[in-house]
Amino acid sequence: PLVTLREVLGAAAAGGYAVGAFNCNNMEILQAIVTAAEAERSPVIVQASQGAIKYAGLDYIAAMAKTALASATVPVVLHLDHGTSYEQVIRCLAAGFSSVMIDASRLPLEENIALTKEVVKAARAVGASVEAELGRIGGTEDDISVAEREAFFTDPDEAAYFVEQTGVDALAVAIGTAHGPYRWEPKLDFERLSRIAAKVKVPLVLHGSSGVPAEDIKEAIRRGIRKINIDTDIRIAFVNRMREVLMANPDEIDPRKILGPAREAATEVIREKMRIFGSSGKA
Ligand code: G3H
Ligand code: 13P
Ligand code: ZN
Repeated sequence: PLVTLREVLGAAAAGGYAVGAFNCNNMEILQAIVTAAEAERSPVIVQASQGAIKYAGLDYIAAMAKTALASATVPVVLHLDHGTSYEQVIRCLAAGFSSVMIDASRLPLEENIALTKEVVKAARAVGASVEAELGRIGGTEDDISVAEREAFFTDPDEAAYFVEQTGVDALAVAIGTAHGPYRWEPKLDFERLSRIAAKVKVPLVLHGSSGVPAEDIKEAIRRGIRKINIDTDIRIAFVNRMREVLMANPDEIDPRKILGPAREAATEVIREKMRIFGSSGKA
């Protein structure tokens, strides 16, 4: 069934585990996410990024998700990832999303609060959940120094104020992760995470979680992370398998013979994440 982020993260907080939020760009990846969740008996968050909406179209994503949901027996959240505007949030809510992220982390604090507040008001009206971001989670391709990156880390007091002012259901924090394949060893600021968790009453979200060692992920969960975003590790598994199939069968012309194995590889990596996150067996 379709559920809200608030519901699955509330259960995760009570149970001391985290729920994976997996980025979906096409039919094969959506099927991999839902197949993995069913196989692991795990709640799951399917999320559509800006790139996914651009590539597949919001209507296609919503229709495919609706089809997947019709037969899903585990709780599924349909979530907008890094929403860019109030208008986009409304379009997603109208399309049936049960949760949205508004990422106004680029804006000054009070402007981030003002926009996030508007989104919370709209989402509440239809019973949907809201995730927001404070601090800035960059990309692994950003050419900035460690010190510059740390300057964007989430401030615990500001986080408490932000959540209190906006009423969001979940907060994405910047504690050392970045989007994309790491070109360095990710070093998480666990001490900061604990200070944020002590002051913030809503579940915390870790972005850029692909490539973070399982032990660090588990430590982050122990310290209060409840939603873990994974995109890159799915892309790697999916495309590597496509490449293997194509290398072994250079004359293959049936897309299904290439995408089918890729879908299986994606399912495997997602199942592995669910076991690390502790959400397996929780649905
Ligand atoms: O939020 C970041 C996702 O990992 C990728 O975003 O699909 O817009 O490239 P994209
Ligand atoms: P990765 O691609 O680094 O796993 O990040 C995913 C993410 O944070 C999506 O919002
Ligand atoms: Zn992200």
